[in-house]
Amino acid sequence: KTRVLTGITTSGTPHLGNYVGAIRPAIAASRAPDAESFYFLADYHSLIKAQDPARTQRSTLEIAAAWLACGLDPDKVWFYRQSDVPEIPELTWLLTCVAGKGILNRAHAYKAAVDKNRAEGEDDDAGITAGLFMYPVLMAADILLFNAHKVPVGRDQVQHIEMARDFGQRFNHVYGDEYFVLPEAAVDDFVATLPGLDGRKMSKSYDNTIPMFAPRAELKKLIAGILTDSRMPGEPKDTEGSALFQFYQAFASKEQTAAFAQAFADGIGWGDAKQQLFERIDAEVAPLREKYEALMAKPDEIEAILRDGAARLRAAHATPALLRLREAVGLRDLS
Ligand code: TYM
Repeated sequence: KTRVLTGITTSGTPHLGNYVGAIRPAIAASRAPDAESFYFLADYHSLIKAQDPARTQRSTLEIAAAWLACGLDPDKVWFYRQSDVPEIPELTWLLTCVAGKGILNRAHAYKAAVDKNRAEGEDDDAGITAGLFMYPVLMAADILLFNAHKVPVGRDQVQHIEMARDFGQRFNHVYGDEYFVLPEAAVDDFVATLPGLDGRKMSKSYDNTIPMFAPRAELKKLIAGILTDSRMPGEPKDTEGSALFQFYQAFASKEQTAAFAQAFADGIGWGDAKQQLFERIDAEVAPLREKYEALMAKPDEIEAILRDGAARLRAAHATPALLRLREAVGLRDLS
């Protein structure tokens, strides 16, 4: 079976970028008959950005409810919270000891933080935690522990998957066996990166997100705020570089998208275009929103699903895998 694995960091409310870039393709992939899927809530990762306990907890619940509302079946998919699986941080250390520091120096998130410091005339590493620097190693442990073959992610995460391959390969080389499968990123080329309200990538860090389950009125208002150029109705519009168009494309069939492109060429007004986009997104999200709200009313049930998922996963995969790895590196045999 092909093992498919992906996670979402629990540092905020799930947004449409998470839906389009991770949840929707992952759930589709989990339905393939030859797939074994691992989907999880990356709450250890959230500590890097959000050092706010209430927010981490709330976000964990919201993101779990989002997966379930979108049709994840916890009896068919391994569905768990990262911090319920202590084998993950243990493997992180084993990988830390083979991971090249120079590779971590090149990680986009770390480099961006250094560049920002330089631009502001600060020391390179001012305010940067070792957690941010080590982020890709924790992520590699998430993936390698379960020997995932495919990791469906947005483009922003591809570099991390390449690093996981690198660390896995080094470990295999150093300890002389095929301990780890080398994972591959699965990026949906058609969707690519969903832009946010301001046209940059939709991201919690840019504060430009549209929450996945915003109530209808709020969704409409947020869509009305998507940045456009100042062309008037009747003037032809460019689809190239238009955040509005990219959005539409992510939620529409090929035919609908072609018709929308034609409307751009014919000079549709931005107000009309936004109304059409709103209707398209709402048509897809409305039924999920109802399920989400019902789930959020029963947090104990979500909690029980997560605990049960982690307990079964540890017994079936995580604990035996780690025993083998401990033995490989020469640590005490716990079995
Ligand atoms: P995170 O929480 O930033 O994002 C979760 C997933 O959503 C995708 N995504 C997007 N896709 C398209 N357009 C966007 N605007 C957009 N914003 C987010 C991301 O690409 C990602 O697939 N480090 C990861 C979480 C993680 C993980 C893992 C993923 C931890 N361990 C192991 C895969 C495998 C992260 O912070 O994603």
